[in-house]
Amino acid sequence: MCSILPMLSPQTTDRVREVADIEDIVNEYVPLKKKGQNLWACCPFHNEKSPSFSVSPAKQIYKCFGCGKAGDPIQFIMDIEGMSFTEAVRHLAQRYGIEIEEERERTPEQRRALSEREALFMALNYAKDFFIDQLKTPEGRAIGLSYFKERGFTPEILEAFDLGYAPDSWDALLTAAEKAGLQRDVLLKAGLVLQKEGDAERVYDRFRNRVTFTIHNVSGKPIAFGARILTQDKKQPKYINSPETEIYHKSDVLYGIFQAKKSIKAQNNCYLVEGYTDVISMHLAGVENVVASSGTSLTENQIKLIKRFSNQVTVLFDGDAAGIKASLRGIDLILEGGLHVKAITFPDGDDPDSYARKVGPAAFREYLAQAPKDFVRFQIDLFQEEAAKDPQARVALIQTLLTSISKIGDG
Ligand code: UTP
Ligand code: MN
Repeated sequence: MCSILPMLSPQTTDRVREVADIEDIVNEYVPLKKKGQNLWACCPFHNEKSPSFSVSPAKQIYKCFGCGKAGDPIQFIMDIEGMSFTEAVRHLAQRYGIEIEEERERTPEQRRALSEREALFMALNYAKDFFIDQLKTPEGRAIGLSYFKERGFTPEILEAFDLGYAPDSWDALLTAAEKAGLQRDVLLKAGLVLQKEGDAERVYDRFRNRVTFTIHNVSGKPIAFGARILTQDKKQPKYINSPETEIYHKSDVLYGIFQAKKSIKAQNNCYLVEGYTDVISMHLAGVENVVASSGTSLTENQIKLIKRFSNQVTVLFDGDAAGIKASLRGIDLILEGGLHVKAITFPDGDDPDSYARKVGPAAFREYLAQAPKDFVRFQIDLFQEEAAKDPQARVALIQTLLTSISKIGDG
């Protein structure tokens, strides 16, 4: 269960400053090349074609001559992972096996002084643990766990994705969290509980009687939830998601990025799908370099996030041609971001999840290996039927292609 994060001792920070190596750390995000005294790369913080981002191993600093970002190893982790100072120090301490010394227990005043962000992270982490624990109760086992099992989710997958269950109760989370010392206004700001309209005194759980999907940031911290309904009730939304909060900006986040980043880097390709369950099914099929845009159109920041780990995106489209045409803007955005794009479609209204379960892991991986088309081929095929019949449609196709091609930088 959740504990209040104590403060770090200054000794821990000093130790991290001594040991952390800037070259080593930066290299994990962008490959560095030696030129003179310094090392160079294309800047991970802004879009560029030729390297103006430099690292000085001697001074243990980085500096971008393009966008001006500069600092030491701790600052680099803060910038690239979007962490606070303490989070970055903890992150590096863990990485270098430095023992984290904590200051003594916090007084109530010190607790109140915790930054709002950290309080929100704590609340989200508490809720994650709470939902996971609920899978072990009789209700959770009978409803939540059996749902996941039916979908073929393994215990390892439940754990890797922090899947859970929100019980059929108006205040199970609220009551438990308050008992654990979390404040009501923090739970409200975290989007975990809601105030009844017209009666602010009445507060209740946002997620009820649903299985929960934890949404993590790139460094693995829970920042939001998606919660899926377990009945066929068409009057209720299939998913209820966390609202935008201080720590959750939907348009900057990709579901599954934490679990995928290593594999995206290793494969130098990122599969992009629509849904939470597509990501999970693909992991089950042995494909781990996959993230989801969570049902919304792709944003520039999401593309930048992928670009930290790979320069190729393979978009997996489900749905009919009309739906696909509506999402072609996403491809142009990826091209504008300077990434290579491929596309894969699925037969007969299957999505990656249903297709993977239909054909099995081996055939699914085979399909992914055979099916990718570069974006020009993909768009030609998509519009081919109409274009063959109709000269107007032919002109439209060529225009679409030219627009896409114009998004690619030089060369
Ligand atoms: P889907 O309807 O394809 O859901 O929506 P899914 O993830 O494949 O779920 P299953 O397989 O039917 O159980 C794709 C994504 O769109 C968002 C979710 O992120 C979902 O994963 N979505 C969908 C919502 O946020 N709210 C909704 O009501 C529906
Ligand atoms: Mn689905």
